Amino acid sequence: MRIVRTKNYEDMSKKAADIIASVILLKPNCVLGLATGSSPIGTYQNLVKKYEAKDLDFSQVRSVNLDEYKGLPRENEQSYYYFMHDNLFSKVNIKPENTHLPNGMEPDSQKACQEYDEVIKSMNGVDMQLLGLGHDGHIGFNEPNSEFDKSTHCVNLTEMTIEANKRFFASIDDVPRQAYTMGVGTIMAAKMVVMVVSGKDKAEILQKAFFGPVTPEVPASILQFHPNFVLVADEDALSLVK
Ligand code: F6R
Repeated sequence: MRIVRTKNYEDMSKKAADIIASVILLKPNCVLGLATGSSPIGTYQNLVKKYEAKDLDFSQVRSVNLDEYKGLPRENEQSYYYFMHDNLFSKVNIKPENTHLPNGMEPDSQKACQEYDEVIKSMNGVDMQLLGLGHDGHIGFNEPNSEFDKSTHCVNLTEMTIEANKRFFASIDDVPRQAYTMGVGTIMAAKMVVMVVSGKDKAEILQKAFFGPVTPEVPASILQFHPNFVLVADEDALSLVK
């Protein structure tokens, strides 16, 4: 595990974008595993800036996202499809047909998950997986559990995640209760994993995940075993690390 210590969210976002840009420069047709949430927004903004400055070309880049709510149509502003379109895809020259998210509108969970695993397999895996860190240690929607889930699966969101996500919905009742998520096995199979973490509220879980025991009770802790894991975190998030 390598730690890139940054001053603040802006600095974290710039450095994470630099790392991702280098992946694209070295392999123009790379497969990027992408995340939603507040942590990577600044990273995407910096990638867009590089594209606008003609320093980065997404024309051959392919992407697979970590997760999608089950039952939210693409047009819903809270769907992860909408988020990715809004924050990145519509602002760079990535081809729409090269971007992939689990199909949240597929009611048959088994079918949705199988189809998504086939998409990932057809791309020969992920070159760089970008992650955020949930307050309970989740990655994607892989919540604390008694075991690590390997492949794409349907999850029931925990109360903590529903509570954390309610800020984006009109009311807590509107927060979807289920999601499709890439499994921990697929995340671990990525050639490189980059996690962005910012803020004092993440300090405790960051310390637990990367300096405590590896356990499915803290899903992110398994990244301690990843051979090419880069943690890009700001001083506040690293404040409990000795
Ligand atoms: C997003 C995702 C989640 C978030 C995590 C942190 O696609 O899969 O695991 O990365 O919940 O969210 P933020 O960045 O909003 O604190």
